[in-house]
Amino acid sequence: MDKIKERINEIIKKAPKMKGQDFKKKPSNSWDSKKDNCPYDQCNGSGFRIIEQNGRKVAIECECREERVINKKLEFATILEEFQETMIDDFVVDNNHYKQSNSRKSASVCKEAAKKYVAKFKEMKNKKKGLYFYSDTAGSGKTMLISAIGNELIHQHKAKVKFATVGDLLNAIRSTYSCNSEVSTHELMDAAKKVEVLILDDMGQQSIKSDTNDHLFDILNHRLNNLVVTIFSSNCKIEELPYNFRIKDRIKKMAIPVHAPEESVRENLSEQENDELLEELLMG
Ligand SMILES: Nc1ncnc2c1ncn2[C@@H]1O[C@H](COP(=O)(O)OP(=O)(O)O)[C@@H](O)[C@H]1O
Ligand SMILES: [Mg+2]
Ligand SMILES: [Zn+2]
Repeated sequence: MDKIKERINEIIKKAPKMKGQDFKKKPSNSWDSKKDNCPYDQCNGSGFRIIEQNGRKVAIECECREERVINKKLEFATILEEFQETMIDDFVVDNNHYKQSNSRKSASVCKEAAKKYVAKFKEMKNKKKGLYFYSDTAGSGKTMLISAIGNELIHQHKAKVKFATVGDLLNAIRSTYSCNSEVSTHELMDAAKKVEVLILDDMGQQSIKSDTNDHLFDILNHRLNNLVVTIFSSNCKIEELPYNFRIKDRIKKMAIPVHAPEESVRENLSEQENDELLEELLMG
């Protein structure tokens, strides 16, 4: 009997866990890189299609191939789990979230800018213009809002969106220096330059290393000169960013600055929750 029990325990240990990450569905914001799927219905997902040239059949690269490569290189850069389903309408502007009237005013401007940006995405992309949300105060909704914009662009415009904090992106680039890295520095930089929508969270908040300015300039300068857009969040104005002036100059050209509220929704909501719990506690 004990042997059987032991065996059963062994099997249970080996079986995948039924809770947690193992069975989560694939993040919806990562565009599909499955083989049998070509967004242009040209190549059945093989990345190549056959055309006739002077009576001979030749294979050429499908438009979807480069997108697939970019997605693979930037696999780590997805919208945070917390905000994967968040839409712009989830961004609430009321007295509970923002107690001060000027915070509600700037939150409304942010929300309106986000909505209009999504509605006019094609026009904005042709102008190569993104958005730059900034406020000194943490917890005011910047990461939430830029994530929501990303999700809306995916759903409404089938845009190819990648999301990363600047620190994570730069660290990922640094990790390609190692000779056993699967991705070369050039390949990863190339993907960051070319992805249709790049959302860069927490600009200026990472520690500045010797290669920071070079990499950021390279990526942003390329993006400014091509038909792609970048959406930023930061805790300071563009001119106050701790990067060199060439980078700040590029960011000014490629994004419209929008001042986010200087009030923490996170603090307001948790204070409220505690007040309610205390009341419940005292009543019971
Ligand atoms: N306008 C809002 N409506 C609903 N929830 C919000 C709003 N702003 C912030 N939050 C909540 O507050 C928390 C902090 O927001 P976050 O976007 O991370 O702030 P920031 O990036 O400005 O530091 C998040 O968990 C988010 O769910
Ligand atoms: Mg944030
Ligand atoms: Zn294809």
